[in-house]
Amino acid sequence: MMFSLAASHAKGKLATDKIFGASAAAGKAVAQYGKENVVNATIGAILDDQERLICLPTVETVYRGIPMNEVINYAPIAGLPDFLEAAVDVCCGSHRPDAYIRAVATAGGSGVIHHAIWNYSEIGDTVLTADWYWGPYKVLCEDALRKLDTYALFDEQQAFNVAAFETKVKSLLSKQDSLLIIINTPAHNPTGYSLTDAEWDSVLNVCKDSAKVGSKRIVVLVDVAYMDYAGEKDACRSFLRKFGGLPQNILTVLAFSMSKGYTMYGQRTGAMIGVSSSQDVIREFEAINQYTSRATWSNINRGCMRLLATIHQDKLLSAQLEQEREVLYRMIRDRAEIFMAEASNVELKMLPYVAGFFLSVPAKNTDAVCDELHNDNIFAVPLAKGVRIAVCAVPALKIKGMAAKVKRAIDIVENG
Ligand SMILES: Cc1ncc(COP(=O)(O)O)c(C=O)c1O
Repeated sequence: MMFSLAASHAKGKLATDKIFGASAAAGKAVAQYGKENVVNATIGAILDDQERLICLPTVETVYRGIPMNEVINYAPIAGLPDFLEAAVDVCCGSHRPDAYIRAVATAGGSGVIHHAIWNYSEIGDTVLTADWYWGPYKVLCEDALRKLDTYALFDEQQAFNVAAFETKVKSLLSKQDSLLIIINTPAHNPTGYSLTDAEWDSVLNVCKDSAKVGSKRIVVLVDVAYMDYAGEKDACRSFLRKFGGLPQNILTVLAFSMSKGYTMYGQRTGAMIGVSSSQDVIREFEAINQYTSRATWSNINRGCMRLLATIHQDKLLSAQLEQEREVLYRMIRDRAEIFMAEASNVELKMLPYVAGFFLSVPAKNTDAVCDELHNDNIFAVPLAKGVRIAVCAVPALKIKGMAAKVKRAIDIVENG
């Protein structure tokens, strides 16, 4: 037995991140065979067709223009007021729900998830998300001494599985009084799926039905990390309006992040946006989440908050940024389209991709499939139920031919 000084709740914890593991293997192959011979589909950031990390030009210009004392200084724990206002505006666009809305600054979208788990689920309780989910959800739950359970994301028609969702919501609420539900849409990681407005109606109907028992508390955390690359700005935000007029025992929390939408991945800036029909709930939301920020990381990146406020307050800069994003959106979409067309040609089954950084191919024994792909110098991330391919990071030229190789790797692993 290893000698350990860790407290009982911390003992044995080890973050074996599949994504970083796969990316390290790709790095090794690049060193051995040269960049041009390796397809690294593990990276969750936008790379251009020369495989260089892209910073949105407007973001870079504005950021470089921020005075040094603004970059280095502390910020209010709750966040700069201009930033909070901008975060709500850019997140909701023209579909701001009719409700009380307040924001609290967080260390990226991860910070939102952290606070939501801590403040809206009981210790020992179970948090709910879909069976295709971003791995850190589980780490965040378990580190906070909660469990994570899942429902099947897709039904037979590859649409949102409302029945599976309803069954899990009802069963968890028969055992616990509060339930935190994490829904990552639009442009879901890892599948690229976006819930339709009708699917959102079904989700909210299940929540409203469950909330009829007044002692039950439901918090719907909408992880919108990829919303800025989900398609037409207005169309992919229309579901947000549905969070107005919900019963007071349902709270919606939007996880706003500057990591992707502003290519500020490492700058750790985001906001949790609370939406509720109850002023009490929103006042409490601000108070308890600021408190948890103080207790977790204190204040966040002031320069990055100023960046958002500056761009938001300038119509020209905002329009320019949107144009630049549009170019990236198209670039990613073109890559995904090549993969989807080829997948269809070689009869490779994939999950329904609408938009976003990733697409996924269902498979069993995904570690073996990814190992097999290494023989073709292709590196992807093995998930529990499939292989994740980061179309955000692979140039179109390298996407060509990939679907057939994935198909072959799956055939070899599954049929020998
Ligand atoms: C699904 C999902 N949610 C949230 C995030 C949060 O990112 P950050 O904490 O950098 O804002 C990510 C980043 O990879 C993600 O993939």
